[in-house]
Amino acid sequence: PKGGKKMKKLLVVSLFVLCIVFALGKTYKVGTEATFPPFEYVENGEIVGFDVDLIKAIAEAEGFDVEFVDMSFDSLIPALVSGNIDIVIAAMTINEERAEVVDFSDPYWTANQSVVVKGGSGKGLTVLFGDNSIGAQTGTTGDLWIEEELQNTGILTGQVKRYESFVLAFTDLENENVDALVLDEPVAERYAKDRNVDIVGLILTNEEYGIAINKDNKALLESINNGLEKLEDS
Ligand code: ARG
Repeated sequence: PKGGKKMKKLLVVSLFVLCIVFALGKTYKVGTEATFPPFEYVENGEIVGFDVDLIKAIAEAEGFDVEFVDMSFDSLIPALVSGNIDIVIAAMTINEERAEVVDFSDPYWTANQSVVVKGGSGKGLTVLFGDNSIGAQTGTTGDLWIEEELQNTGILTGQVKRYESFVLAFTDLENENVDALVLDEPVAERYAKDRNVDIVGLILTNEEYGIAINKDNKALLESINNGLEKLEDS
């Protein structure tokens, strides 16, 4: 009976340890660029937004933990490729160029691009023509669109200004240091709510957002797609 008691104790303790190990799960580093409301932005020193809620819900459904890392948008893919982070969720558009170096989850959102000018400036869509300066966040699809459709075609002869942070880009717009910005429509709309800016045009790019994962991590890709599906079903 004495030995049995000991065994029981051992069993209880090992079960307890096992439970803790399972409950802890794995913690993945999630990279984002948090000047992109309503998808990711900083509020009271914390990164919040739709993407943050989404990846947290996926993590909960799939039994892993996440930890956020805020960095410049154009360093997200390099960080994923080098293994410094495990996941990117940053309202990132799925495109061919990116899909060559990282894997994308199933799409979770669609968006177009907007053209934004200073509020009350009277500027319209023609701001994109001639000798104006047009701004975008470095490495975004807005940046790419300006280069391919405006610069390379000769429609725009002015400067292209590239920003790391949208907070700075909008301040430059309000201070008349740049004539217009090109960025994702839902984000332009959100900024237009509390900044002195007007949305003057829509560019129908039909982009789809995906969560990016290192190409060597197919198990995580599958898990994220499973989580997405569970959320969509519920
Ligand atoms: N959808 C655009 C792209 O993929 C812009 C994304 C910018 N995201 C951000 N979190 N700053 O290029």
